[in-house]
Amino acid sequence: MSWIVKDLQFSAEKIITGGNKYMTGNGYMGFRGTLEEFGKEQLAAVTLAGVYDQAGGKWREPVNAPNALFTRLSCNGKRLGVLDAEPLSHSQELDISCALHKRETVYGISGGELAFTAERFVSMDQLHVLVSRLSLAATADCRIELETGIDSEVWDINGPHLYGLQERHTKGVLLAEAVTGELGLQVAVAEMTTCHFEAGETSGEGGARRFIAFDVKAGEVYEWYKYAAVYTELDCSEPAESAVQNVRTAEAAGYGQLLAAHREAWAERWKRSDCVIEGDAAAQFALRYSIYQLLIIAPTQSEKVSIPARGLSGQVYKGAVFWDTEMFMLPFFLHSDPATARNLLMYRIHTLDGARRKAAEYGYLGAFYAWESQDTGDDACTLFNVNDVFTGRPMRTYFRDKQVHISADVVHGIWQYVAFTGDDSLLADGGAEVIWECARFFYSYACYNPVKRRYEVLDVTGPDEYHERVNNNAYTNALVRQTLEVALQSAELLRAKYPERYEQLAGRLAGGPFLKEFREMLAGLYVPQPDPQTLLIEQFDRYFILEDVPLAELKARVIHPNEYFGGGNGLATTTAILKQADVVLMLNLFKSTFSQEVKQANWEYYEPRTEHGSSLSPCIYALVAADIGSPDWGYPYFMRTATVDLTGESKQYVGDLYIGGTHPAANGGAWMAAVLGFAGVLFDGKVLRVQPALPELWTAVEVPLSLHGDSFRLRVSREEITVSAAAGNREALKVSGCGSRDQLCQPGAMLTLRTAGAAGASAAE
Ligand code: BGC
Repeated sequence: MSWIVKDLQFSAEKIITGGNKYMTGNGYMGFRGTLEEFGKEQLAAVTLAGVYDQAGGKWREPVNAPNALFTRLSCNGKRLGVLDAEPLSHSQELDISCALHKRETVYGISGGELAFTAERFVSMDQLHVLVSRLSLAATADCRIELETGIDSEVWDINGPHLYGLQERHTKGVLLAEAVTGELGLQVAVAEMTTCHFEAGETSGEGGARRFIAFDVKAGEVYEWYKYAAVYTELDCSEPAESAVQNVRTAEAAGYGQLLAAHREAWAERWKRSDCVIEGDAAAQFALRYSIYQLLIIAPTQSEKVSIPARGLSGQVYKGAVFWDTEMFMLPFFLHSDPATARNLLMYRIHTLDGARRKAAEYGYLGAFYAWESQDTGDDACTLFNVNDVFTGRPMRTYFRDKQVHISADVVHGIWQYVAFTGDDSLLADGGAEVIWECARFFYSYACYNPVKRRYEVLDVTGPDEYHERVNNNAYTNALVRQTLEVALQSAELLRAKYPERYEQLAGRLAGGPFLKEFREMLAGLYVPQPDPQTLLIEQFDRYFILEDVPLAELKARVIHPNEYFGGGNGLATTTAILKQADVVLMLNLFKSTFSQEVKQANWEYYEPRTEHGSSLSPCIYALVAADIGSPDWGYPYFMRTATVDLTGESKQYVGDLYIGGTHPAANGGAWMAAVLGFAGVLFDGKVLRVQPALPELWTAVEVPLSLHGDSFRLRVSREEITVSAAAGNREALKVSGCGSRDQLCQPGAMLTLRTAGAAGASAAE
């Protein structure tokens, strides 16, 4: 079964999408899948997680570090690179089993051919280290000059971010140091090159470049290695020193040893997360690739950063963290790597003050989380987030002001974590405060309608961004209800288990609104329900009276290929066409509280009306299709989600705004569709329920699961469900599936449940 992503020719048109497709990274930094000779014009970038900078009045965005793996080749005085000379052959490849990137390019040279190879990785074992092994061999003697070292000309969308650049060469180490403009943070990159052949080296004028010249004999292989280390002042007080020290240690360890440790770290990650699909190689590959994308951006070592909407693939979307993390990526981490899941939620705890500032700015209480969150939690989202393609003017959008569901999404994430892992220390570590502050925000945001005698949530934007400033969005109201419930439950839990912490935190909020008010609001909160006749849930008040135009007809009205369907006068705003799953997403979140008939009626109603203008949307339709027993309706949506970064076929522009990059929410959505959808896994913290609905091609799904701190393997086929519990597990797991009553899976045991169609009844071993 292949783990290799590969292209067998170079195509200039695919440089940008290739940069996403061939991404490597380790959660500390992302390295775009560019070629060695590429520079900022080709969007080469080493994007640092959690390091942000604002240049002038432009959008604040992550900082890209200088690229220490830069290498350019000249042969007999002529530059050789895919941009300068048409290669005789070229391949680019990524081994997703261990995040190893390779390229091999053969060029014609006078009297023969020259093959250039480069293999590289961003170490998963040592998060500051990047390494590459390069080689060349020619069929004719020639003179080669390598220009390598550190390329400090970094790609920026809204830069420049690095000032006072100093480049030095000391005792074999090149060092590029600079400070960021806004916060004055030092960024340092060190590099060493070791050649395994005789060569003359000169360094450029004070720059961090090496010029290495040598004579190549036909038939001989020339190999050299590059080691690099990246540090910023967020990591340590002397980043330059650390970078130099680290690069020396890396060089001393050598490529082989670093690669072995890197491979081992990757093997460990796959062991916890690989999901096997039997019977469908294309789906298997796409799912693994999606998981790979999540693994290269997971903040395994830091609770101060979360995952931006475009991962670490550059500065798109300001490197900001959206609801995407809690609602689309968190489930993968919860089931495979709870420690990283905890980090993602700790990030929200660390940014609570920013959310408090935002609530206060709008005149509300509590915490209103940033729609686009960076290091401080202050909102990076602007009031004019899209440019009108017709007038060129910034368009007023209400993502920042009105997508209040973000605070409820954060609460949902925290509660999922606590229920799922049983680790309630997160509440004591600040989670409870976040939950209560979000509940206080909603208490101050909601309106009491004295005529209808109910609390309503008015003037909001739900997940469907094409309809801004609506009243009683079903998704938002359902999540606000959950926030209030969780606020009350977490108070009880904290009071019982961490009484001192409870007193300390609750004491601060005693003046209210607090539990009494939450209870009162919960009792009177309006949450749109299914219509008794049609079973449909109205997306928001008056949605059903909007123009019910078929999607194809709406698209026929488009004048400009990049025009925005939402905003003040976007095409979709007066119609029932929605950008992305909204009611259907809500049905998925609260799947056990709605009947199959309600889920089916709403899926069938909303599906033709959904434009999937966001990459977050298709996976939700796959999930609910599986839930209503129609996995083959969902299968195309799964494939679309799982291949988004392989095909590069996603929206690249909204208005004139470039939004390319990787799609971690879709990557997480692919995992959700496969495991929570088709394999039908549902763990509520107490019982593992498995209700599979496999697509036609799939014969089985097998996945490791971490539940409540214990490890299991689940295999779901058409005939049976098998759960194997690791011997070291602490507790027996209650499992239900195939219509059987709950059964216990003891530590070290294997439990098999047979489907009604299979021979024999349920059996436990
Ligand atoms: C979607 C949002 C999403 C954002 C970042 C937008 O297009 O509508 O729901 O959070 O992209 O992925």
